[in-house]
Amino acid sequence: MMGRLEGKVAIITGAARGMGAAHTKRFISEGASVVFTDILVDEGKQLQQELGEKSLFMKHDVTSTSDWKEVVKETVATFGNVDILVNNAGIDVPEQDLLDVSEEQYLKVISVNQHSVFYGMQAVTESMKQTGGSIINISSLAGIIGANKKLAYTASKFASRGMTKAAALELGAFNIRVNSVHPALSPPT
Ligand SMILES: NC(=O)c1ccc[n+]([C@@H]2O[C@H](COP(=O)([O-])OP(=O)(O)OC[C@H]3O[C@@H](n4cnc5c(N)ncnc54)[C@H](O)[C@@H]3O)[C@@H](O)[C@H]2O)c1
Repeated sequence: MMGRLEGKVAIITGAARGMGAAHTKRFISEGASVVFTDILVDEGKQLQQELGEKSLFMKHDVTSTSDWKEVVKETVATFGNVDILVNNAGIDVPEQDLLDVSEEQYLKVISVNQHSVFYGMQAVTESMKQTGGSIINISSLAGIIGANKKLAYTASKFASRGMTKAAALELGAFNIRVNSVHPALSPPT
């Protein structure tokens, strides 16, 4: 049986472990070629050995625009195109009172969870406009209902959802779908 992603080429970030690694394995089992990226190089290289030639691991800090350029360039050079981007990389934070959150902590979460989504969408859009494609931003349930004592995390996940909507409205004309996904650790109470 044909896989659902036969012939497609995907970039998946934050994929050396966790959900990103799971997305990568599933994409490959559905027939895609995947460039999966992370700052965790040892874990990434190890996973690459398991996954074989339909995968390519790259060291990639999603807060770096020059890293993004390299990843897109290498993806096109290796697999010929970029059909799918999964902006999955993200960091969680411990619960903290609003008054205890430092500016540095706030900016770190915004940078990794929010700015990365902007950089990633911008990095792939030029080539996707030629062929169409799909961008999937992994937000959170926190991006819909908020998370108590996680102000920066909540802000970043609302922003990811908001950017998804704006980009979907703009890029639909180019046959690029843009969607967000909102996982939850446990059902909301
Ligand atoms: N696991 C959950 O229950 C849950 C719930 C809601 C949302 N999410 C979201 O799903 C995504 C994946 O979460 P996960 O649970 O698999 O987390 P995880 O920590 O297992 O994986 C996230 C990956 O992102 C990588 N990463 C962190 N900073 C990075 C950076 N600057 N550049 C590149 N990579 C970076 C980490 O090294 C890690 O491998 C995140 O965006 C997270 O916010 C997860």
